[in-house]
Amino acid sequence: MPPRPYFSGVFAGKTVLVTGHTGFKGSWLTQWLLLLGARVHGLGLDPDTTPSLFDKAGLSARVEHQIGDIRDAALVRRCIAEVQPDFVFHLAAQPLVRHSYKEPVETYATNVMGTVHVLDALRALQKPCAAVMVTTDKCYENREWLHGYREEDPMGGFDPYSSSKGMAELAIAAYRRSFFAGHPVKIASARAGNVIGGGDWALDRIVPDCIRALASGAPIGVRNPHATRPWQHVLEPLSGYLWLAACLSKLPDNHSPLCSGFNFGPGHDANRTVGELVTEVLKSWPGRWEDQSDPHAHHEAQLLQLSTDKAHALLGWSAAWNFAEAVRETVTWYRETEQCNDPALIQSLTHCQIDAYTAAASEAGLPWTQPAP
Ligand SMILES: NC(=O)c1ccc[n+]([C@@H]2O[C@H](COP(=O)([O-])OP(=O)(O)OC[C@H]3O[C@@H](n4cnc5c(N)ncnc54)[C@H](O)[C@@H]3O)[C@@H](O)[C@H]2O)c1
Repeated sequence: MPPRPYFSGVFAGKTVLVTGHTGFKGSWLTQWLLLLGARVHGLGLDPDTTPSLFDKAGLSARVEHQIGDIRDAALVRRCIAEVQPDFVFHLAAQPLVRHSYKEPVETYATNVMGTVHVLDALRALQKPCAAVMVTTDKCYENREWLHGYREEDPMGGFDPYSSSKGMAELAIAAYRRSFFAGHPVKIASARAGNVIGGGDWALDRIVPDCIRALASGAPIGVRNPHATRPWQHVLEPLSGYLWLAACLSKLPDNHSPLCSGFNFGPGHDANRTVGELVTEVLKSWPGRWEDQSDPHAHHEAQLLQLSTDKAHALLGWSAAWNFAEAVRETVTWYRETEQCNDPALIQSLTHCQIDAYTAAASEAGLPWTQPAP
């Protein structure tokens, strides 16, 4: 099948390193890059959930696959020197707030020093390469503002996970200023909020919690029903990462406003409470939920919104699916694959959702969908 002609066709035939390729977002990104004709090389740990999208979609047979720890600086240096990537998407991280309270040292080591190891290894790369470093909307100092955080707002973070990503952002900016002026490697960072989508089985995330409960006929226990988040389908930020990398790849050096941090978030209609999200899930998979708020639980931000004006102005990027579509596609994916262990069928459903998402983005006139000339 010929490569899909999107993102200016820049990924066709190119070598792309994805760190965290065995994770939820990494597995979706890997499948999208394969559709775009890229040669994908993954660096990450073995999937830590059973099932995992990586295993269900049979991705180990479709990519160059390296299991390794990004806390090992020499391993990361060797990997980048051997792979000689044209593009890097750095997603590997310890991504869970609650786990970061249990394992703060591991969280900082992985999220801060892992990122520094990737940046440092990229310094030695003497060829054009576009690198998108993935952090999170939680990297901002959260003041429970009603308006969305902008890219210039201060980094911060209450808990170890959030602050580790704020620290990663500071390291990315410092490395770019200190080592990458005039360097062939172009670097940007991407901050996205909570994503939903088929194939996530992480603990302590609301959609996987819903699916586990619904599949077993139990009520969904909701810890934080009033917390508001900018929910978006996983394909939304991934389209932002891919388009940002495609635009970076056309720059001669890092002297461009594109070599900076970008928010990727949904439209305002998707800023919903956890309770509203669960109610929407139940429209596609009937069941019930119960409030399990714990007044003694660790602190989690209640209100978090992103401004995406910069991505809109500089990249022409915006979200393509509304809240109801994102939830419906997510629940459909789980329902249709619940009893399925055939990688070909899982891939085919995933490809269908990527194509449906691309069609919606094309209808909205988003520039990344314009076929390459
Ligand atoms: N899922 C979300 O809602 C969300 C929201 C904002 C930001 N993010 C960010 O997106 C990225 C991907 O998140 P995800 O949801 O796919 O998480 P995930 O837990 O599904 O995947 C994490 C990936 O990182 C790898 N990894 C973890 N520790 C590692 C180590 N020490 N060495 C090498 N690899 C390691 C894992 O093997 C896995 O491939 C992370 O950087 C996360 O912080 C996720």
